[in-house]
Amino acid sequence: MAAYVHVPFCTVRCGYCDFNTYTSAELRGVTRQSFIDDLCSEIQFSAGVMTDSQIPVRALSSIFFGGGTPTLLEPAAFARILDDLRSVHGIETGAEITIEANPDTVTPTVLQDLASAGVTRVSFGMQSAVPRVLALLDRSHDATRMPEVVEAARAAGLSTSVDLIYGTPTETIDEWMCSVDAALALGTDHISAYSLIVEEGTAMARRISRGELPDVDDDTHAEMYDRADEAFAAAGLEWYEVSNWSVPGKESRHNQAYWRSDDWWGYGPGAHSHIGGVRWWNAKHPAAYAERLAGGESPALGREILDDDQRHFERILLQSRVRAGIDLAELGESGRHEVAGLIADGLVEGAAAIAGRLVMTRRGRLLADAVVRRITD
Ligand SMILES: C[S@@+](CC[C@H](N)C(=O)[O-])C[C@H]1O[C@@H](n2cnc3c(N)ncnc32)[C@H](O)[C@@H]1O
Ligand code: SF4
Repeated sequence: MAAYVHVPFCTVRCGYCDFNTYTSAELRGVTRQSFIDDLCSEIQFSAGVMTDSQIPVRALSSIFFGGGTPTLLEPAAFARILDDLRSVHGIETGAEITIEANPDTVTPTVLQDLASAGVTRVSFGMQSAVPRVLALLDRSHDATRMPEVVEAARAAGLSTSVDLIYGTPTETIDEWMCSVDAALALGTDHISAYSLIVEEGTAMARRISRGELPDVDDDTHAEMYDRADEAFAAAGLEWYEVSNWSVPGKESRHNQAYWRSDDWWGYGPGAHSHIGGVRWWNAKHPAAYAERLAGGESPALGREILDDDQRHFERILLQSRVRAGIDLAELGESGRHEVAGLIADGLVEGAAAIAGRLVMTRRGRLLADAVVRRITD
C-alpha cells in the first residue's frame, strides 16, 4: 500500500507544465494553512471510507509528496501529515518517504527539518544545467545551486534524485550532454529523465504554434535518450524503467508500486487513487476540494471499476516499460506472435525472450508505445 499526497502550489507556472498546480492569484481564497487543514481532514475522512468499503488497513510502504511544489509548505506540515497518515494507515518501519523539491525552495536547515519530520528521499527538479535552457523552460532556479542542495540533502541523511527534461525546443545535443554530465557529477542515487511533452494549452504550446519556437524533433529526442542512457550506464546508474535510472538497490519504491499496479491512496486536489481494481479521483481545484470536505462530503468526484481486460492492458503497458519486463505467458496469442518480429526489429531482447520474458532494448525503449501497440493489438 502506497500513498500519494498532492501539494498544488507553485510560485510561478513553468511554460511547459500542465500539472494541477496554482499560483497565489489562482487559489480563490485557499491558503497554505487552510490546505494543510483540508488535507488532514481528508486523511481522517479516508479512515471512514476504509471501514465502510471494507478496505483492509495496511501500513504504507511508500509515501510521495508531489506537486506542484511541496517544499512551499513548512517542514512542520509534513510531520503533521505523516502523523495523520500513521494514525489512519500505519507506516512501515523503513518506508520510503519522498518529497519533490524545487532547488530554489530549500536550504540546508529546511532539508534537515524535512528529514527530522520523517522524509527519507528528496527528488530535485533540476531539469537542465544550462541557463539558456532553464530560461526557455521558465525555471526560476539558478543551476549553480544544485551541488549545494544535493550535498545538503545528503548531509541530512536523505536519498537523492534529480529530474531532467530533454528535447526543449532549440536545445542542442551538447547542451543536453552538459546537463547529463552535471547531473552525474552530483552523485545522486537516482535520475529521472523525461522527454519534453508539449502539452496542449500551455504557454510553450502557444509559443510553438505562433512560430516563436520550433516544434520538438523526434530524432533529436532519440539521440538525446541514447546518449544519456550510455552516460548513465557508464557511471553505474542502471535503467530500471524507460525514464528512470538508479544505483542498484536505490530504485524508487513508490514508482515501482505504480508500475506493479499496487494499491495506492491519493490525497489532495485532483489526486487519483487505485485500490483493488477501483480507481477514483478528487475534485481538481483546491477551493472545490476544500468545499466538499467542509460540507462533510468525500472529495472524490468520480470513480471507475477496471474490468479484467483493462487491468490486463494496463499491466502490460506498465510492466513492459520496466527492466524486469513481462512474462511472455501474460501476452495474448497475437501478442506472442509479434515477439519474433520485435526481436528482428531490434526492439526486444532475444536472450530475455528465450528465457520467457519480454524486455525492451534501448531502441525498444525509444519506441515503447509502438512496442506496446504491437503486443496488445
Ligand atoms: C510536475 S513536476 C513537480 C515537481 C517540481 N515542481 C518541479 O518542477 O521540479 C514533476 C516533474 O515533471 C516533469 N514534467 C512536468 N511537465 C513536463 C512536461 N511537459 N514534459 C516532460 N516532463 C514534465 C518535470 O521533470 C518535473 O520535475
Ligand atoms: S515548478 Fe514544477 S509543478 Fe510548478 S509549474 Fe513548474 S514544473 Fe509545474
